[in-house]
Amino acid sequence: MATAEKSYDIADIALADDGQRRIEWADRQMPVLQTIRERFEKERPLDGITMACCLHVTTETANLARTLTAGGAEVVLCASNPLSTQDDVAAALVDRYGADVYAINGEDNDSYYRHIYAAVDRHPQVTMDDGADVVGVLHGERSEQLSELIGGTEETTTGVIRLKALEAEGKLGYPIMAVNDAKTKHYFDNRYGTGQSTLDGVIRATNVLIAGSRVVVIGYGWCGRGVAMRAKGHGAHVIVCEVDPLRALEALMDGFEVMPAVEAAKVGDIFISVTGDRDAIAGHMFDVMKSGAIVCNSGHFDVEVNKDDLEAITVDKFRVRPFVEGHRTKDGREIFLLADGRLVNLAAAEGHPAAVMDMSFANQALAAEHMVKHHDELEKRVYPVPEDIDHEIARLKLASRGVEIDQLTDVQQKYLASWDQGT
Ligand SMILES: NC(=O)c1ccc[n+]([C@@H]2O[C@H](COP(=O)([O-])OP(=O)(O)OC[C@H]3O[C@@H](n4cnc5c(N)ncnc54)[C@H](O)[C@@H]3O)[C@@H](O)[C@H]2O)c1
Repeated sequence: MATAEKSYDIADIALADDGQRRIEWADRQMPVLQTIRERFEKERPLDGITMACCLHVTTETANLARTLTAGGAEVVLCASNPLSTQDDVAAALVDRYGADVYAINGEDNDSYYRHIYAAVDRHPQVTMDDGADVVGVLHGERSEQLSELIGGTEETTTGVIRLKALEAEGKLGYPIMAVNDAKTKHYFDNRYGTGQSTLDGVIRATNVLIAGSRVVVIGYGWCGRGVAMRAKGHGAHVIVCEVDPLRALEALMDGFEVMPAVEAAKVGDIFISVTGDRDAIAGHMFDVMKSGAIVCNSGHFDVEVNKDDLEAITVDKFRVRPFVEGHRTKDGREIFLLADGRLVNLAAAEGHPAAVMDMSFANQALAAEHMVKHHDELEKRVYPVPEDIDHEIARLKLASRGVEIDQLTDVQQKYLASWDQGT
């Protein structure tokens, strides 16, 4: 429903009670964001700013939206993936927390983009993206709006790659902060968040036993390390496929078997791509996979699994369970694709745990504040999150766990800053 007095398009406003309970539960695990929200309520650093946020509509995102609203922003939220929207959360955000949401779980491509355009129609001054879809629209069909923008933030690796490509071509229309590149983001969210929630997605979708199975992880970046680590923890025999020799070497020394994807395809039971690249799992692999192989993706876009290649060898498709689609191949094998090749951790599970999103979204909130405060001094570039924000978030997170650490003495500080003090 989209009404004149209140602009939103969600599945069912009656789900707000459930959504609110789950949002408050997640909030208990997000002490850093809570601290920022309390300060924002007093200081209102985002007063008068309209923000178009294109993020997974989850309980953690809801707590970020509450924080931005507390800071004075008008928040318009659309989904960054058609399968990750939690409809009860969308309802609670509209009904209880004063955000305008355009997102419905399972929406088709047309509805997904209609919702992104609806957010852009609100003429934001700040964008907050997860995958650069709003930025894409603003640099394409709506480029006349670029002059209205004072800043933006980007959540994920794939989005940052797209922004840097725009910057390299001299086409970036306003300054954007690469939240993904903050250490308190990718060291933890990409590794521990994606690691845990991806395995959670595979297990919830299939209920297969991971112990003793061969899990093939394609891409050994921050996400891949986390997925491989957690699969190993479940007792899997983990095989890593890489294209970067350094990362491949790291995987080898971390104790994993490393081999080309086509070799891994012959022996793997479960395939998980986390590359940010297209065709990480493609026809040459489908051709040699064992019958019963399970294939999924936890990278940002569904291009990682080449679904056309799978379709080309498929004679029959059948739905086995929610998020599990069987493909019977011409030569009589069965290959099972999870969540239609979309982010398995968000489609079949609930995405990252709140405790890890606490840091990612603390970065988002502080990056937005920084953008609004300093936009006059910034150029049309991709900026890193300032180091003091990163350190402050780490400090707050440790404090919330009751963990204290040591401080450098003056003598140690001097030693570390000198070049002439040896043995
Ligand atoms: N599922 C989630 O919730 C979640 C969370 C964070 C990031 N992501 C996404 O996951 C993807 C990976 O992110 P990251 O931070 O690990 O990136 P990264 O750059 O650290 O790692 C990607 C790795 O994939 C490798 N690679 C690229 N193409 C390959 C190919 N064809 N075959 C094998 N290896 C290949 C690269 O060499 C690199 O080591 C991105 O799309 C990112 O946006 C998803």
